[in-house]
Order: sequence, then structure tokens, then C-alpha cells
Amino acid sequence: MLELTNLESGYGELTVLHDISFHVENEIFAVLGANGAGKSTLLKTLAKLLPVKNGSIAMDGADITATPGYELPDMGVAYVPQERNVFPDLSVAENLSLGGLVGVRSKEEKLEEVYSLFPRLADRKSQVAGSLSGGEGQMLAVGRALMQDPKIILLDEPSAGLSPLLVDVLFENISAIRKERGVSIVLAEQNAVKTLEVADRVLVLSLGRIHLLEKAKKLNMKQLKEAYHI
Ligand SMILES: Nc1ncnc2c1ncn2[C@@H]1O[C@H](COP(=O)(O)OP(=O)(O)O)[C@@H](O)[C@H]1O
Ligand SMILES: [Mg+2]
Repeated sequence: MLELTNLESGYGELTVLHDISFHVENEIFAVLGANGAGKSTLLKTLAKLLPVKNGSIAMDGADITATPGYELPDMGVAYVPQERNVFPDLSVAENLSLGGLVGVRSKEEKLEEVYSLFPRLADRKSQVAGSLSGGEGQMLAVGRALMQDPKIILLDEPSAGLSPLLVDVLFENISAIRKERGVSIVLAEQNAVKTLEVADRVLVLSLGRIHLLEKAKKLNMKQLKEAYHI
């Protein structure tokens, strides 16, 4: 589905990611790594918020290295940034509706699906997004991505800032999105323990390079600790 080949990216003169190659199929593909390892840079590059310095990105066999970010939703790629940017003055329903402008299915059908996945959002349809709790705001950001009917969601550290109880709910939701909706997920996370419970494969970034890429079931804590320089 999504394929990266020898990708290099960064900020201006600074190269952060070096020689990144992997492909994502129908799966939860986790990207782990210490703070500053390059997880967000990777997702921002895939979302086309950062220029590709070298290498290429393909989606369903088509080269999208030069495709602008605004065309990605139509290609089935949705992005949820680390700083969940919902529109604070708009209601929950309005925020979701904005995501629903993409795709062929009716907005109403997709709204019902999002509300059944996130009943807390259904209870707060007309509440302005700025007054939601951290967890609810995260659900809204993910819900808006789902309104695009994506094939793949790039999800950057969704558990950041959530209470342990909400983190459990969040990871259940991530599993449900994969299992019930068939959407693939590239999941950048700090929370290695929870991530290993839901991921199919795990990429560990270390200082902007691939440290290891392994099936989640095969990964052990020793390997992870080495990657985190613990
Ligand atoms: N806007 C930016 N300008 C310059 N360097 C940045 C910027 N954002 C991140 N970086 C650098 O890129 C590296 C990777 O950061 P990031 O991708 O945010 O890591 P992670 O998401 O894994 O914590 C860090 O060294 C960070 O300082
Ligand atoms: Mg990050």
C-alpha cells in the first residue's frame, strides 16, 4: 500500500531522517523510538508537510513523492498530527463534517460510524471542540480522519497527555478501527508496551535511522531497550 524507498528528510539544511525504506500493508504499523528519534518528522514527511530530500514515496504503486499534501485525502491517506488540530470554535459535528467532504459515501453514513465508534462524541455533538477534554479532543481528531474514508491513517502519538484509563480506551479504538473498518494505521508512539499489544509490525527509529523492523510478536524488551539506549 504505502512504500518508502531510501527516504531522506528534515528541516532546511538539517537532515533528520536517513535512508528509510519500508512498506505498510493491511496492518497496524508502529513507529517507536525515543523522544527526538524522528517519528513526527517521518509522519510529517509522509503527510507532505515536509519536503522529501531524497528517495521516494509510493501509494498503491503510484509515485506520490511530488504529490502535494492536499491531494492525499483523495488518495486515501489521512493524517492526525501530534498536536491534534481541531477547530476549537466549531462543534464536534461541524468538525467531523469538514472531514466528510472527501470520499463517495454519504456524510451521514460516515458520521453514524464515527459516533458508534466514539459514543462520547455522539453525546457531545453540539459542544464546541475547544471545550472537550484531551481524550475527547483526540477522539475527535481521529474521528475527523475517519470521515475521509481513508485506506491508511498516519497517527502521531495519540496517547500523549492522556490518563492511563483513556490510553486503554484509545488503544481499543485503534484496534477497532483496524479490525472493523479495515483501515491501515501508521502509529507513531512513545508508549511501547501498549503499542506492542495492538501492532502487527514495529519499526524502531534511533537518531533518524531504522534501528530494527520486526513483527510485534517477535520483538522483545531487550531489543527495545537497546533501541532506546536504556
Ligand atoms: N521544526 C523543526 N526544525 C528543526 N528541527 C526540528 C524541527 N522539528 C523537529 N526537529 C528535530 O528533528 C529531530 C526529530 O524530531 P521529531 O521528529 O519531532 O522526533 P519524535 O517525534 O520522535 O520525538 C529532533 O532532533 C528535533 O530536534
Ligand atoms: Mg513526535
